[in-house]
Amino acid sequence: MKVPFLDLKAQYDSIRDEIHGAMQEVMEQTAFAGGPFVARFEEEFARYCGTRYAVGVSNGTDALWTALLALGIGPGDEVITTPSTFIATAEAISLAGARPRFVDIDERTCNMAPERLSAAITPSTRAIIPVHLFGQMADMDPIVEIARANGLHVVEDACQAHGAEYKGRRAGSIGEAGCFSFYPGKNLGAYGEAGAVVTNDPEIVDKIRVFRDHGQRKKYYHGIIGWNARMDGLQGAILSVKLKHLDKWNELRRTHAGMYRRLLADLDAVTLPVEADYAKHVYHVYATRVQDRDDLIAFLAKRDIHCGIHYPVPLHLQDAYQLLGYREGAFPVAERCAAEFLSLPMFAELTPEQIEAVCEGIRSFLAVTV
Ligand SMILES: Cc1ncc(COP(=O)(O)O)c(C=O)c1O
Repeated sequence: MKVPFLDLKAQYDSIRDEIHGAMQEVMEQTAFAGGPFVARFEEEFARYCGTRYAVGVSNGTDALWTALLALGIGPGDEVITTPSTFIATAEAISLAGARPRFVDIDERTCNMAPERLSAAITPSTRAIIPVHLFGQMADMDPIVEIARANGLHVVEDACQAHGAEYKGRRAGSIGEAGCFSFYPGKNLGAYGEAGAVVTNDPEIVDKIRVFRDHGQRKKYYHGIIGWNARMDGLQGAILSVKLKHLDKWNELRRTHAGMYRRLLADLDAVTLPVEADYAKHVYHVYATRVQDRDDLIAFLAKRDIHCGIHYPVPLHLQDAYQLLGYREGAFPVAERCAAEFLSLPMFAELTPEQIEAVCEGIRSFLAVTV
């Protein structure tokens, strides 16, 4: 049975008429760059996240970058994050002119280990970016407490965590700013590129709104050197349609995760993701850990079952970040995880038969009788 890693077409088929209607409205109004459809989505998404504001931007990387700029972070500053994330987290720090500093992750949740945070703070540290990796929020209480005690900003990288919760609070609503990507494969994905920053701080909103539009408040009067980081009208309208389905889709992901757990829990060779007591995990990625993962991936691919690796190389060992001077062994947990991560197919439209096929494939590989 074919099991794709992700099936965007299945989701599109389930909302086709709503999407076509929304796109047609944008085209009738020719509201293509920014405009009323983006403004409406911003209101809806802020309400969803439990924040006062949302600002739509062109992608998640720009969301992180503009949030850091709005907080005044720049050359000479350091920003702490983890090496176990997509490179955009660190790129945004670098684009702001600051220097990423990494702390290792917690082996159970694969998120920033708060107990390692204090040792990474230097006189140049200005902010912390906890990444809510795979759809589970980082342990925010101790992170915020350490940030407060040291006068540091907290910017959440919620690019993989639309609708995830920490003690009942939604991703993006705990730090001074929460940054989202709506890359097509995300739990809430656009039909192209898009992102947003959510916040309760009107000053952050004002700065990002000006920056995203070439530094202008009034057309062709540019107060600062900005950028074109606007969200498309079509993406705003599509995201409004899809936001209405997000909770249902997240619940389906959670159900699928429960089924994977039931079918794989007895296998010692496969470490399954852990949902922390404080968390509502939305399983953007169902990341297991397996020692012979490359062989297992090849074995499953022969059965037309497709997996992913998120991510094979931690950021401190990427060529792009050799300039930071970290060596192998600097972050042993992140390195161990990177060598073993194996993401199983996960999307709302996955069927029980497909999940069974994946689990059966894994069991056959491990030569375990069901
Ligand atoms: C953790 C994380 N941060 C940042 C980003 C960047 O988002 P985008 O691809 O929309 O620029 C992503 C997207 O893949 C991500 O997963």
